[in-house]
Amino acid sequence: MQPAIRLARHGVRLTYEEAQSMHNRELAEFPDSKRIFQRDGKFYEPGDLFSQPELARTLERIAARPDEFYKGAMAHELAAEIQRGGGLITAQDLAEYEVKERAPIKGTYRGYEIISAPPPSSGGITLIETLNILEGYDLGKLGNRSADAIHLTAEAFRRAFYDRAEFLGDPDFVQLPVAQLIDKKYATGWRESLDLTRAGNSKELRRPSGFGELDRSAAAHSPYGGHESTNTTHYSVVDSQGNAVSVTTTLNDGFGSRVTAGKLGFLLNNEMDDFTSKPGVPNGYGLLQGEANAIAPGKRPLSAMAPTIVLKDGKLFLVLGSPGGPRIISTVANILMGVIDYGLDIKQAVNAPRFHHQWEPDQIYIEKTGLSPDTIKLLQARGHKIKQEDYWSDGECIAVDAKSGELLGASDGRGGGRAVGY
Ligand code: DON
Repeated sequence: MQPAIRLARHGVRLTYEEAQSMHNRELAEFPDSKRIFQRDGKFYEPGDLFSQPELARTLERIAARPDEFYKGAMAHELAAEIQRGGGLITAQDLAEYEVKERAPIKGTYRGYEIISAPPPSSGGITLIETLNILEGYDLGKLGNRSADAIHLTAEAFRRAFYDRAEFLGDPDFVQLPVAQLIDKKYATGWRESLDLTRAGNSKELRRPSGFGELDRSAAAHSPYGGHESTNTTHYSVVDSQGNAVSVTTTLNDGFGSRVTAGKLGFLLNNEMDDFTSKPGVPNGYGLLQGEANAIAPGKRPLSAMAPTIVLKDGKLFLVLGSPGGPRIISTVANILMGVIDYGLDIKQAVNAPRFHHQWEPDQIYIEKTGLSPDTIKLLQARGHKIKQEDYWSDGECIAVDAKSGELLGASDGRGGGRAVGY
């Protein structure tokens, strides 16, 4: 933990984006957050040194005694701090927390092997299901960001996110039909309902039949809920021997709950928003989620994080990932298709304008500068609702040049990240 301790103690120079992000009104509502991130109102400027001595001390305590956080004095300090703010977590909850190591989820796309995050993240399954549906179309021939290709990709997202909403949650609590969801035959079934010339309708989507557990369809646990009516970090690393690591870690929103755990000096997340707090009511990212992801004691929330590694002929080809809530999945898919289907290099693929669909709300999100007005009109003529937004996500990716073995790092031009080699 030494590097992290050093950075916390001696500080880091803030980028423009980091300094800007600290102008957060909600941070100012919590005295410790206001003190640490806003110097009590004397806001940090880009280039300022930002150090966190309390965090350094906390990390040192954990380094000296690894179970300090969950079982030691720190667990009691943290629980007391949470309860002081009206939170529910107890020292016993912390003591009972278990870290789980899980096998990744695997699929293939046009001969490439896709290795990604397993449940309780939906990231890997939803990515692989989307790609399985798309594998039946020659996207490269249709052309990068052509109306045809966007139509098909949005329809694939619609279907995969629909399944996500209904079936996915913590595998320790609910049985997930993972094998069926990532089955190529199931994707073939989905393609049969996909009209090449008309937008689908999320409310009328019917799942293909003949797939065991999936046959219970929307009737049993509709994510619509009967009649009731941003911060994450990603980094990719490859070492000199070709070992690859793809890491996404999340506090959920920017600065999490905005609450700092007192003198412990770190922020508390607002991860409860990743659960279905009420079926039929969208979460902070507009996601409708189902009973499978309902809140329960000891349960882990469903995530969309999709740290992903792609192999070609057993060799490392891409390391991908991003923040962005549900848009993580479409971001990783956009980048992956940029390279595999449209022949972009990794930097072009990361910077390319993105689009997103998540079943509900039933619309294609595009970046403001993302598509030509002609393409938008073609999509609208098919029946798609188009919502233009400022940019989102932050792809931090690596590609391996097949011939030279050279590592090509691509940090998203939208953010303040950086590709480095040493
Ligand atoms: O795990 C998830 O899916 C969310 N907690 C991620 C939130 C996120 O990426 C916000 N970043 N912009």
